[in-house]
Order: sequence, then structure tokens, then C-alpha cells
Amino acid sequence: MPGIDRRGTAGPHAGITCGAGRVEALVGCAQSGIELGAMHETLIDILVCPACRGELSWTVAERDGGDLLEADASCQGCGAGYPVREGIGAFLTPDLLREDLWEETHSELTGYLNTRPELRARLIDTPLDELEPVDRFLRADYLDELGDVAGAEQAGRGAREQLYTPELWELWNECLDRMVQMYSGHRGPVVDVASGRGTLAELMAEGDCPLIVATDFSVWVLRRSRRRMQHKGMASRVSHLVVDARRTAFGDGSIPVLVSHVGLGNIMEGVSDALSELRRVCGGVLLFSHAFFSPDDPVHAPIMREFGHPLAFLEDATQALRAAGWDVEILINRRVPVKPTPTSKLVPEMTVDRIPLAEAELDGVLIRAR
Ligand SMILES: C[S@@+](CC[C@H](N)C(=O)[O-])C[C@H]1O[C@@H](n2cnc3c(N)ncnc32)[C@H](O)[C@@H]1O
Repeated sequence: MPGIDRRGTAGPHAGITCGAGRVEALVGCAQSGIELGAMHETLIDILVCPACRGELSWTVAERDGGDLLEADASCQGCGAGYPVREGIGAFLTPDLLREDLWEETHSELTGYLNTRPELRARLIDTPLDELEPVDRFLRADYLDELGDVAGAEQAGRGAREQLYTPELWELWNECLDRMVQMYSGHRGPVVDVASGRGTLAELMAEGDCPLIVATDFSVWVLRRSRRRMQHKGMASRVSHLVVDARRTAFGDGSIPVLVSHVGLGNIMEGVSDALSELRRVCGGVLLFSHAFFSPDDPVHAPIMREFGHPLAFLEDATQALRAAGWDVEILINRRVPVKPTPTSKLVPEMTVDRIPLAEAELDGVLIRAR
């Protein structure tokens, strides 16, 4: 979870313009037989205008096999336009405030290193076995941002796990495995909400789901996710759509399975709207993992209360879900110790997560809502 004190907005369709260099890189990919992955054309049947829910009419400029690499959708009702560029469809409305904390945090690292060449060289050139896990993680993140997916994989291998307590890591793996097992082979579409770096979407793709839709309101995060999936050869199973969970582009009841791994807790504003919106589009089940602080936690509970997030505590979350029309079932619920992620040795003051602020316990849960 990123910090809760940082604000900022990302405009609609930010960064999705197609620079010439990038296009050449994509053409290179196609020629070398790497799976590009693009927006599955079948999704057209379930997509509506996120602003007015009007019907969309489509103009396709370029395909990858049957799927859409470059296209434009135009709303028959309100006239709003939505582009598909480099295989990623962008369906944001201009009116919602967006705090793209992940892009801010990661761009902060990149910007910081780009203006400090000596530090950058130390992070990149120090032999991996001499780096602390947190610095291996930062190196991986920096390389991933630069598009060096293989270098990032190598640098980050085994590092992320070491930033968290083994109990928390084990719990998240159990939640992820359960979600994958439950919907392995499901014909889909399985929509991953607040997909972020795509941990869950990747596992779903490996678990034999032929149509996963990774959604996030950050273009930046989805471009990185798609690049990683191309590298791993699973891009053809995953569509990437820039969608805000508070106002999606999916038709009523059109999605049989919605999943999210520590995604809903990262929706900082309008979570209740998101829960109602997901209820509207869900034709089956919503399955998500989440972590709750105890209401008695002396350090974190007051902060969470002040912030007023509807999913801060288990009881509030259950109420918020019910108020949005969901029946709630808790499939996994385990209390685990957590500790602050370590501070970097090389890049001063850089930490991975801003909470927890102190050692604490979290109730990690897997919730099924219908
Ligand atoms: C911790 S990440 C999720 C991790 C991810 N699910 C995984 O499997 O690796 C949280 C994500 O939530 C996204 N997010 C926050 N608010 C959102 C919203 N209103 N709609 C869609 N995505 C949102 C952020 O951009 C970020 O990428």
C-alpha cells in the first residue's frame, strides 16, 4: 500500500500516446515472433461508454491476429472517444480525481536516480549478491521502468519476499493460489480489478484462464504489466484495459468473475462507489484479498480512522459491501505479524511501502462476494 499523504492527478489517457520509438520496438517484437498481446476483440460485446453507458462504435486501424492493437471507440450517446493504443484500451472519464500514487512513487525513484548518476551507477553496477534485498528490489523496479524486463527479473528474484514477514508472504500466496484454483480454466472473461503489477493476472494466465482482463486506472502500470507478460509469453491471454473501478466500461452483469489481490484497499477515494459499480457489472462473483488492521492497533487504527477508508476494518468492510448489495463470505482469515519494509542502504530515505509504520498484526482475508 502506498502512503496516504501524497496527492496528485493523472489526466485521462495520460501517457498512452504512441511514440515512434515504441512503435518500432513493437514491430521488432512482432517480427521476432514474441506474443504482442492486444485487446481481445470479443470484449467489444461487453464494453460500454464509462461516462453515459451508451453503445460504442468501433474503428479498427491495426490488429494482432484477431485482437486490437490500434482502434478507436466512439460513444453513440455522448460522443466521448476512447482509444486503443499499443494494444491497451483506455476507458477513463475526465471527471474523476485520480491519485496515481504508484506512478508517482516509481517515477520519483527514476527521476531521483537520473539526476544522481553516481548513485544510479552504484545501484546498477554493484554485484547482486552484495546488495540488500530492498536495493535489489529497487534495482529491479528501475530496470523494469526502463523496459529491461529480463534484467529486472534477475535483480528482483527472491528479493521481494524478503521485504515482508514470512507469515504475510505465505498468507498472500495462499490467497493467490485459492483464487487461481477456483477459476483455473474458466472461460472468462475474468477481470482483475486494480491489477497493478499484475501478480494475480499473471498467475491466472498461467493457471489456464484463456481470457483475463487486467484493469487499472494507471496507464503507466498497465504498460509495464503488458511488457512483462510479453516477456513471459503470456500476453495473448491477457487484455489490458485502463479502467477506473469507480466507473468502469463494462455492461450490466457482463463479468462472471471479478478478482483483486490487495487492490480494493488501494482505491483511496470513492471505494463505496467502486463497490457499487463492481456490483453493477458483476454477473457472478467478486473474490478479493485484503488486509485489515485491528481496531485496537494503537499506531495504525487512529490513522485509518482519520483517513476514513471504508475497508479499513473488517466490520466496516462487511457493512460497506452489504450496503453496495453484496452477500459476503470470508474464505480465509488469518492474523499475521507485519513489520515496516526496510529502508534502502543506497538510495537514502527510499522505502518500498509506507505502512505499516511499526511492527503490528494484520488480519489477512480472502473475501467472496456475490
Ligand atoms: C497494490 S496494487 C495492486 C496489486 C495487484 N493487484 C497485483 O496483483 O499485483 C494497487 C493498484 O490499485 C490501482 N488503483 C487505485 N485506485 C484505483 C481505481 N479507482 N481504479 C482502478 N485502479 C485503481 C493503483 O493504480 C495500483 O496499481
